[in-house]
Amino acid sequence: MRKTLEPLRQEAISNWQKLQNFDKPIIMVGAATCGRASGALDVMHAIGDKLKELDIEAIVRQVGCVGMCHSEVLVDIIKPGRPRITYANITPDLSKELVEDYLVHENAREDLAICVSDDTPEDDLQVRVVMRNCGHIDPNSITDYLAQDGYMGLAKALEMTPQEIIDEVKESGLRGRGGGGFPAGRKWESCLRVDADQKYVICNADEGDPGAFMDRSVLEGDPHSVIEGMAIAGYAIGATKGILYVRAEYPLAIRQLKIAIEQAKERNLLGKNILGSGFDFELDIFQGAGAFVCGESTALVLSIEGRRGMPKPLPRPRTSEEGLWGKPTLLNNVKTFACVAQIIHRGTDWFKSIGTENCPGTAVFALTGKINKSGLIEVPMGIQLEKIINDIGGGVAGGRAFKAVQTGGPSGGCLPPEMLNLPVDFDSLTAAGSMMGSGGMVVMDDTTCMVDVARYFLEFSLEESCGQCTPCRAGTEQMLTILNDISQGKGREGDIDLLVEMGEAIIDGSICGLGQSAPNPVLSTIRYFREEYEAHIRNKECPAKACKELITYTIDAEKCSACGRCLKACPSEAITGAKKTPHAIDAEKCDKCGICFTECPDRFAAIQITTGRTENSN
Ligand SMILES: Cc1cc2nc3c(=O)[nH]c(=O)nc-3n(C[C@H](O)[C@H](O)[C@H](O)COP(=O)(O)O)c2cc1C
Ligand code: SF4
Ligand code: SF4
Repeated sequence: MRKTLEPLRQEAISNWQKLQNFDKPIIMVGAATCGRASGALDVMHAIGDKLKELDIEAIVRQVGCVGMCHSEVLVDIIKPGRPRITYANITPDLSKELVEDYLVHENAREDLAICVSDDTPEDDLQVRVVMRNCGHIDPNSITDYLAQDGYMGLAKALEMTPQEIIDEVKESGLRGRGGGGFPAGRKWESCLRVDADQKYVICNADEGDPGAFMDRSVLEGDPHSVIEGMAIAGYAIGATKGILYVRAEYPLAIRQLKIAIEQAKERNLLGKNILGSGFDFELDIFQGAGAFVCGESTALVLSIEGRRGMPKPLPRPRTSEEGLWGKPTLLNNVKTFACVAQIIHRGTDWFKSIGTENCPGTAVFALTGKINKSGLIEVPMGIQLEKIINDIGGGVAGGRAFKAVQTGGPSGGCLPPEMLNLPVDFDSLTAAGSMMGSGGMVVMDDTTCMVDVARYFLEFSLEESCGQCTPCRAGTEQMLTILNDISQGKGREGDIDLLVEMGEAIIDGSICGLGQSAPNPVLSTIRYFREEYEAHIRNKECPAKACKELITYTIDAEKCSACGRCLKACPSEAITGAKKTPHAIDAEKCDKCGICFTECPDRFAAIQITTGRTENSN
């Protein structure tokens, strides 16, 4: 089958080489959703207009997200015979300047450049497996993908027996990237073992965790890598149909996938008798309606069947044995499939050389929160948290103190500074009371209240609960009421122990991962930040000065210069004052929005936030 692929591959490689050796400039714009949100399409238009105006011939290409969402819009320029230069934070006006300065006047605009290299700017700590092509190739070009050894894994797999493929996947140690870290090969094998007239392969691209966008980026930047992985899985387990379950809020990912599927069909890489092997595999897209619980395997299957998306009651058969329409169904995450083709093509030793013994390969994280360089990162499993936050993420934003990092999305936990040397892998994070999840990582600074964080994530889980288990439905609501009371200064002695007791009962009494992990943010913040809960309960104090009900805004008359800025900005008309008269805040009217604090110039810093019992409080 590799022979059948060879002509397609040679043509693609020759196109790619022509592009690399092109005698005109090539301009690449990062136009995934993050780039578009920052104006990538306007930048592309501006570049096109300027090239026309200056009568310059150049190729302008769209690429996916390389991960540096903090510096969008990213534009790369390769002039013939010169290294690739990456420019950051480009606006339409800057892009016009850039085109004229660099392409006409030979001024490479180093002031706008963040990297001059033949490769994409990546720091040494990152390793690209899942995101290897994102930001490098045009996701709408199957030839770009073929030129990067695309579909070589599939062609090789079609020359192997299903069992040989499964043995390779098992040997590679690949664990599911959807959160649980279940060994992929074992799941594939149980699907293969079941005898059935029809089997299905489903890719879980529901990605409902707040702040997570890893899967979206892979689908937008390199859709063929997922399609190829699914086709290999189909051949391995004996499935002829695959479904990509993508949430409808991901229109660009869906568009890129539709284009990629059509291109693969046209080249006989999907459809009937793939590469002359006799293997048929069709791929469809199903658009999910955006409920977090539909990411759970049995709920997802029901939702495709047109039924209400809620986890099946226990005891339930495994999806791998009885899934979609009652047939054996292999469900894996986007990133799991994106690893597969490379494992088959490059071999298990290569894959195992990255990461740790128990967790080979890489982890992709959406690094967000109070961090200097937010965006997508891909790191080898086992890297220390500290390296991610300080070396890759550039440390906590605004030079503030690091307080915690939350991994694993709404079901994960918050880890304190003492855990910064923790290796990042499925097992270490779980042992520390958090989890890998599918890859959300939120950094928090000293202005973040841990009670408030626990409240936020618990509220998310409560809203997303399907409601069929009483502990999940009613228990999380009761926990939320207690947390609300604590953050409003109405907490009582015994509340912390009660939260722990309830959290453990909810974990035990829920039938799906949502309820089984919903208390995690509360339990982990109590485990590592108990004193913060105690301060709220005993001293009516929010140490981070974030809980509105526990803070008071006042003006220090000695520092106030009566500039009047806070008075003008206050939306509640709570501030009084006159020229040359120190201003004052009426506590009754103050809504605690904090605008005055932001408005007061640093050189005066007259607005004060106090918390905790005052002498007058009872
Ligand atoms: C509430 C809930 C939401 C989930 N959401 C996702 C999701 O968005 N994407 C995903 O791949 N897995 C999600 N999972 C995990 C899936 O049930 C399943 O384990 C996973 O898709 C299997 O793929 P993997 O083995 O490649 O990790 C979720 C689980 C639960 C309980
Ligand atoms: S644990 Fe929660 S979300 Fe899961 S099935 Fe029960 S009620 Fe529904
Ligand atoms: S902004 Fe600051 S200095 Fe100016 S009036 Fe308000 S408190 Fe005083």
